[in-house]
Amino acid sequence: MTDPAPFSLPPDAPCGEDAAREQPAFGPRHVAIIMDGNGRWAQQRGRPRLFGHQEGARRAAEVVEACPALGVRYLTVFAFSTENWKRTQAEVAGLMTLFRRYISKEARRLVEHGVRVRFIGDRDRLEPKLVQVMDDLEALTEDNATLHFTVALNYGGRDEVTRATRRLAREVAAGRIAPDAVDAETLARFLDTHTLPDPDLVIRTSGEARISNFLLWQSAYAEYEFVDTLWPDFTADHFERIVGEYGTRERRFGAVRG
Ligand code: FPP
Repeated sequence: MTDPAPFSLPPDAPCGEDAAREQPAFGPRHVAIIMDGNGRWAQQRGRPRLFGHQEGARRAAEVVEACPALGVRYLTVFAFSTENWKRTQAEVAGLMTLFRRYISKEARRLVEHGVRVRFIGDRDRLEPKLVQVMDDLEALTEDNATLHFTVALNYGGRDEVTRATRRLAREVAAGRIAPDAVDAETLARFLDTHTLPDPDLVIRTSGEARISNFLLWQSAYAEYEFVDTLWPDFTADHFERIVGEYGTRERRFGAVRG
């Protein structure tokens, strides 16, 4: 993967507490989703796991479309983790084909809706054909700003922090950054998410209450919502309800109640 340009964070994308404090009074600016339960959904219907992933891809497209009307400017979804390679070869191959087709099929609609697409994660292990469509879609949508849609693909929070630290260490070793000048913001600028604000709300479907290595650094101050619904059953209505309820939560970022 190419190294991100250090210090390229745009002024409208602050990190951490600052980002969370700057959001509008109601509604999350950045929602991240762990789309879990595709396999169980398919198995309950006596169908192959890939059938669940295909249906899950449709739900992802519907949630993307729902975002602008709800005031959600950033949506990040966990499509494939660094741990998902442990699945059967058939499921991994099926998912990779699904990602490639999804990207090619959705490209026009995403452009029409003004969606800017980014991918986070380590691309080195992905098939070149898949990386090509990812690069193409990022380039095609780079001027869009209605919604910033980020897909985490071969992504792991620890892997991301490790890769970022390696790049930062190179800058320090080369004498371009002083060791004592390294703070949390310096490291954040080397993360895959360096152009995004931190998520305000992280949703996980399927009844599991874990974060599974997703946006570990970035979710330090996020609210979490764990819902029992399996991802292929998760509709735009579920999303709207959760986003609406977020406005009623009080976020204190470690401070005492005011
Ligand atoms: C987790 O369910 C889901 C995945 C690992 C794949 C997610 C992929 C999609 C929803 C389709 C592609 C979407 C985009 C936006 C490219 P699971 O298989 O772990 O379910 P289980 O826990 O029931 O087994």
